[in-house]
Amino acid sequence: MPESSMTGKRILLGVCGSIAAYKACDITRSLRKIGAEVTVVVTSGGARFVSPLTFAALSAAKVYGGMFDEQDAHTIPHINLARDHDLILVAPATAQTIGRFASGMADDLLSAVVLAADCPIVVCPAMNSKMFSHPATQANLEKIATFGYQVVQPDSGPMACKEEGPGRLPELAVILNAVEQVFIPQDLAGKRILITAGPTEEPLDPVRFLSNRSSGKMGYALARAALLRGGEVVLVSGPCSLEAPANVEVIQVRTAQEMYDAVLCHFEAMDIIVKCAAVSDFRPAQYGLEKLKKDGADLLLELAVNPDILATLGERKKEQILVGFAAESENHLGEGKRKLAAKNLDMIVVNDIKGEATGFQSDTNRVTILTRKGAVKELALLSKDQTAMAIFDEVMVLGGGGA
Ligand code: PMT
Repeated sequence: MPESSMTGKRILLGVCGSIAAYKACDITRSLRKIGAEVTVVVTSGGARFVSPLTFAALSAAKVYGGMFDEQDAHTIPHINLARDHDLILVAPATAQTIGRFASGMADDLLSAVVLAADCPIVVCPAMNSKMFSHPATQANLEKIATFGYQVVQPDSGPMACKEEGPGRLPELAVILNAVEQVFIPQDLAGKRILITAGPTEEPLDPVRFLSNRSSGKMGYALARAALLRGGEVVLVSGPCSLEAPANVEVIQVRTAQEMYDAVLCHFEAMDIIVKCAAVSDFRPAQYGLEKLKKDGADLLLELAVNPDILATLGERKKEQILVGFAAESENHLGEGKRKLAAKNLDMIVVNDIKGEATGFQSDTNRVTILTRKGAVKELALLSKDQTAMAIFDEVMVLGGGGA
């Protein structure tokens, strides 16, 4: 597994007595999948919904429940558990447990651990919407926020109790983002970032189109990285099968012209633009409303030039940081430098599309970053998530007046 900001992080997951407790199984698995070590503390209510045995199997670690577990009496579990973790995540957190946290009670293991902890604490409420909206619960949530606990707002929607409203445990991706963000500097907070991703499709007739091999992986990794660093992200995406990160505004487009319109519409309000999409340079000059029929003769296709979105942004740019990509199979640096200057960019990410496991469709990438100030930074073969983080590191250097 490649290194990530979560590699080796020790997460204590508190699970309370809510029907949403079953979702804590997925949280445990997902946290481990991104490299974290997970210790689960289940309240007596939580253990009624999901057996501690399930969490032991999923976390591959001892599960803690009772405050006075005789086997562990000599180790003072609540103090050691508080001391030995980098973050406490309580998901689902019930009204009862949130009330305990707010009033400083320590009458079960989870609340005692939380009271004794000095690591970051993330609380994900899940309960009936009337219970959630009750002034007592709202006051408790406000109170724990003043302690520095981060409260992840619940989703709204139909609930197990057949009522509808706020109180559903947020989506897994939202919870994981909240956890990951704790370990990542929020240096893009307050910044609006527009990212383009994927291919465009240029239709020829109702069944055929011109396109390219872009999967969207690099662009979606950039959107995820910007979000994790606290940015407000708009993702303009060509057709691809990827799931967009939660909390990102996604604008789906098909053609280069549609991408042009969407990007230009948002451009002025943005601080940083990263144009990762593989935009078709040409489109069929004519679109047939009916499927083209073959008649045995060769067919010559006339292509019309598409607008160059990035070049247009370069012409209109004011304070924005403009980052382009260049997919190159030869003379990488020469072509990168030429496009950097020709399109009036602040930075260009030159993508080697000929090497192994790099460029289109792969999960990894190898890029060289060039800046308008002449800096050249060659990155190793990295996962696309790591490449995206490294690109934003360089954007921050550029934004901060560096190379
Ligand atoms: O999606 P993946 O499978 O993960 O693959 C990632 C990638 C290889 C697509 C990506 O890393 C990449 O290199 N993207 C740029 C692809 C490309 O179109 O390069 P280009 O050299 O043709 O274009 C240069 C720049 O101009 C790009 O920023 C492009 O978005 C932009 N452009 C190009 C043509 C056009 N009409 N309008 C544009 O804005």
